[in-house]
Amino acid sequence: MSCLWTSVLILISAAVWSPCVADVGDFDPCLHFFYKSWPPKGLEGTPICQRYNNTYHFATLYSRPRRSPWFSGYLYTTPRGRRPKASWKYEPQLAYTGADGNMMPFLPGPVDQNVVESQAVELDYINSTFTRGHLNPSLHHETRNSRSATFTLTNVVPQKVGSNDGPWEYLEQTVNKTLAAYCLGEAYIVTGIIPYKSNEPWIKNHRVAVPEYMWSAYCCPNYNHSLPTELKDAFPTFAAIGRNDPNSSEEIVAIDQKAEKQFRGYDVRQMSLETLETWLKDRFTTVISVFYEQCVHQGNPSHVK
Ligand SMILES: *[C@@H]1O[C@H](CO)[C@@H](O)[C@H](O)[C@H]1NC(C)=O
Ligand SMILES: *[C@@H]1O[C@H](CO)[C@@H](O)[C@H](O)[C@H]1NC(C)=O
Ligand SMILES: *[C@@H]1O[C@H](CO)[C@@H](O)[C@H](O)[C@H]1NC(C)=O
Ligand SMILES: *[C@@H]1O[C@H](CO)[C@@H](O)[C@H](O)[C@H]1NC(C)=O
Ligand SMILES: *[C@@H]1O[C@H](CO)[C@@H](O)[C@H](O)[C@H]1NC(C)=O
Repeated sequence: MSCLWTSVLILISAAVWSPCVADVGDFDPCLHFFYKSWPPKGLEGTPICQRYNNTYHFATLYSRPRRSPWFSGYLYTTPRGRRPKASWKYEPQLAYTGADGNMMPFLPGPVDQNVVESQAVELDYINSTFTRGHLNPSLHHETRNSRSATFTLTNVVPQKVGSNDGPWEYLEQTVNKTLAAYCLGEAYIVTGIIPYKSNEPWIKNHRVAVPEYMWSAYCCPNYNHSLPTELKDAFPTFAAIGRNDPNSSEEIVAIDQKAEKQFRGYDVRQMSLETLETWLKDRFTTVISVFYEQCVHQGNPSHVK
């Protein structure tokens, strides 16, 4: 039977999820999390439409060999309320084609071996010297469900606490305040990683790859043009790269030697989208385009004036 007919029959009979709608291997059901439905170009991986409680919440390009993501793309919504209690989840469809595409909480007791093979699990992080660093952070979401959905290990990389609780957290808060105050329409955010050039560290006997840097960029095409001076360059796009290793060279991000000791070497450098893409090209040795036509494509009337 054709896929279309299966879908129609299922829609008629039960209004449940069509088995033809893939949550893994295809961004089609969650393209709306990307500006102009155009996922970043230049990176190879496994697309995951992150579904929680029967709703798509964001999209992740996942690397099976690294057991960690290349990037997550999402829509920013002004947060309300507190960060939910961490209840970590996994993606069953990475382990079993045809499994229900909703992310599932890890239950007490041993984890299914196919799941252990297909992705990072809680034991990989427990007692490691790394924290679970969200690419798509809970902070950038309004609803309880969309905040909870970010607590899935396919949205997480091994991140040093000095970054996660320091400059990177500060970046997430700055972006939150800037977008809440001056973005008038949709804000599309993509946050990803840059791997080491060589001698990559991994956690848990080479199970999960550690990134050398994290990067983030947003695209807010419709914004308030009465910007304060310090935010003149923050629209329509903005980008940043953050260190995850104090021993990295200072070529991409310089170290502020006066920073508090626990955060020293974990600096975040704010930059233009163009500069970010230049570094991504340098490090991935291929062109990476984060947003469709650098997010400046449409004839915004306020630009024409
Ligand atoms: C799932 O979503 C429904 C409706 O959107 C909501 O009523 C329910 O509380 C959610 N369940 C959980 C576990 O959050
Ligand atoms: C983590 O380390 C603590 C202290 O060394 C130990 O008691 C605990 O069993 C370890 N947990 C795991 C899951 O290895
Ligand atoms: C995020 O932005 C909202 C809206 O401006 C604000 O109420 C909230 O305090 C901010 N949260 C953080 C942690 O910056
Ligand atoms: C734009 O920003 C200015 C200055 O902060 C503010 O007075 C104005 O109300 C804002 N306009 C909109 C549409 O948010
Ligand atoms: C940095 O390098 C030193 C010397 O090689 C090493 O002892 C230290 O653990 C490294 N620090 C980190 C955070 O990797």
